[in-house]
Amino acid sequence: MSTVHMGGGPPRADAMAKVTGAAAYAADRLPERLAHAALVCAPAVGGAILGIDTTEAHAVAGVLHVMTHLENRPALRRVEPESDLTSGRWAHEDLLPLQGPDIHYAGQIVAVVVAETPEEARRAAGLVAVRYGQAGKPSLPGNFEAVLADAIKPNGMFDAEDLVHGDPAAEIAASSQVVDAVYTTPPEVHAAIEPHGCVAGWEGERLTLNTATQWPVGEARAVAQAVGVDDAQVHLVNPVVGGGFGGKAYFRYHVALCALSARVLDRPVKLVLTREQVCYLGEARPATRQHLVLAAGPDGRLRAITHDSFSAVSRVGTGYGESTGDQTPVLYSTRALRVTHRVVPFDMATTCPMRAPGVGPGSFAVESAMDELAVRLGLDPLELRLRCYSEHEQGTGRPFSAKHLRECYDVAARRIGWSSRSPVPAARRRGDWLIGLGMATASFYAIASRARAAVALLADGTAEVRSSANDIGTGSSTVYTQLAAARLGLPMDRMRQAFGDNTAPAGSIAAGQSQAGSVGPAVAEAEERVVARIARLAVEDAASPLAGLAGDQVDLADGRVFARDEPALGEEFATVLARHGLDRVVAEAEFRPPPSGGSHSLQCWGAQFVEVGVRASSGEVRVRRVASAFDFGQVLNTRTARNQLVGGIVFGIGAALLERGDYDPHAGSLVNASLAEYLVATHADVPEIDVTMVNRPDFVANPRLGAKGCGEIGNVGIAAAIANAVFNATGVRVRDLPVRPETIL
Ligand code: MOS
Repeated sequence: MSTVHMGGGPPRADAMAKVTGAAAYAADRLPERLAHAALVCAPAVGGAILGIDTTEAHAVAGVLHVMTHLENRPALRRVEPESDLTSGRWAHEDLLPLQGPDIHYAGQIVAVVVAETPEEARRAAGLVAVRYGQAGKPSLPGNFEAVLADAIKPNGMFDAEDLVHGDPAAEIAASSQVVDAVYTTPPEVHAAIEPHGCVAGWEGERLTLNTATQWPVGEARAVAQAVGVDDAQVHLVNPVVGGGFGGKAYFRYHVALCALSARVLDRPVKLVLTREQVCYLGEARPATRQHLVLAAGPDGRLRAITHDSFSAVSRVGTGYGESTGDQTPVLYSTRALRVTHRVVPFDMATTCPMRAPGVGPGSFAVESAMDELAVRLGLDPLELRLRCYSEHEQGTGRPFSAKHLRECYDVAARRIGWSSRSPVPAARRRGDWLIGLGMATASFYAIASRARAAVALLADGTAEVRSSANDIGTGSSTVYTQLAAARLGLPMDRMRQAFGDNTAPAGSIAAGQSQAGSVGPAVAEAEERVVARIARLAVEDAASPLAGLAGDQVDLADGRVFARDEPALGEEFATVLARHGLDRVVAEAEFRPPPSGGSHSLQCWGAQFVEVGVRASSGEVRVRRVASAFDFGQVLNTRTARNQLVGGIVFGIGAALLERGDYDPHAGSLVNASLAEYLVATHADVPEIDVTMVNRPDFVANPRLGAKGCGEIGNVGIAAAIANAVFNATGVRVRDLPVRPETIL
């Protein structure tokens, strides 16, 4: 097993194209005769549509088409989910738009206008006159407690079953120290820099579609089903994505409306959601309400953890709730355990995953509660975690494939200067600023999917890596290209890449920090096969200096096939191709991950340490320093991996201090559906972030590369570490995110 080609940090192959604006995002394709669509969305929830007057909209110069349920209801079909994350498909809404008069949530699509220019389309959209009936007061997630009785078991594709091990009630009753607390996290709306955009055009029965997605194969199959064509009739191209974070993982029906408009008009149509529309149709991470009980003996050893969660979901969504307790069974050693998830339906737009789905909000509750337990016991919070260190998954007893969490704690604690922390809250003060330190554990499951990739050697001396999987901004395309370049011994500028095309060998979805550990091994296997293929072509060719050698006596590096025992003997691979009259030699391979539920529990680990300053006079919280360490197997590219971890931490700073979707209690609309009012962390909110990657390959989780993933775990535990640091700084315990000045004062 050669790992020599891994762990370097070549810059992103697409970096220059992105910063110069040359990179083509989904909505940047501008085919001939392109028309532009705009959506009309309901401003408030409830009340059926009584009538729609499109006269004024039609009168706008350039308007080509107005689509409503009344005049020309589009023939949409429901997308039936198939859960395979390589070649399945899914949609995240049960409500098909423009099928009837009922308004289920503010932001629901009620009409589509298509015109010659985007300006004309938007202007006409504003002139579509919709008359709505009277509506009652909507039920919204701000009022969670009052409606817990409406909670139901989640029915989404990946929702966990209730889990009980041991006798939690008996253990709690027998414990001397019990933390019993409720934590809440708010709805968080997706705010990727690239809004959801698509360009659809038909040539006969064949649809060419550029659309912002994390899953080209799944998206293409969903669109095909929604508009009623065969999978093979959809060609989806989307190599460059401006951030996914879960908000582009699921198919959304506006894409099908764009495709159907194009079919009606017999010309290509482009539709880009406005930022406000992204806040609704790009969907939100569900608000959560989590009841945690931690029961321990006087030595801090846990006797019971109970983690009962509710998520606020849409009445018309497919019920995606946050699996907040997903990691609770792996985190700490405990005698008894209970984890349950319920969802509560509200009159709001559909919910969907967001970075560190479930586990991000879940870790806020568990890691805050651990901090509260440490305070109660008079124990250092890090010491408490070491006393409860889990050596195996609780309940099942499965061992971890790898766990280097002690090393993470150790490194990150040293780098933040944990030993200087005062256990007494509000003990450190600099002028008006109270200074505090906090920490939390991070963990996230390591999953992988079946994935295919192809590597080609081309007659011009370059090589190409190809897969349907796309790079959603993580740098994964650079990682795959780098893996192939290193194996083939070619510089990066002789590498080509072709990602994000559903007709290429089927790679997996870019989600769940799983893609690099899925597509990466497929690339690695394809490399070996293409080397074997070119070796065979050479040795079987009488005109080659390698003629007559066995295939395995020949290797490839620096663009040359050569004899292993006599490296000077050989020739350029391009020469071999030329002699055979070939323009390329291609090899394809498939990676199949170890089955989930196998003999080991596959996890990634981390430690988050934070220093905050809280301004005593205003309650303003500033994150002053972050020191974190992560164990996620083999690091494939130090630069892109660090970028993912830092990005996750920045996400967590936003979740801890800033982000909250706020609903108007009467209209049910988001009052902050813009980037001016929905606050995300900006440079001014983010300090120097010190990240250590312990870089220990895990060949049980990933036999080929030893790599797991790092896209999600940076956002786990960070909000709790910040809230715990706020407690250390001020003595104020915040159980409801975000931590805003008014919560502290
Ligand atoms: Mo990620 S939230 O699984 O796209």
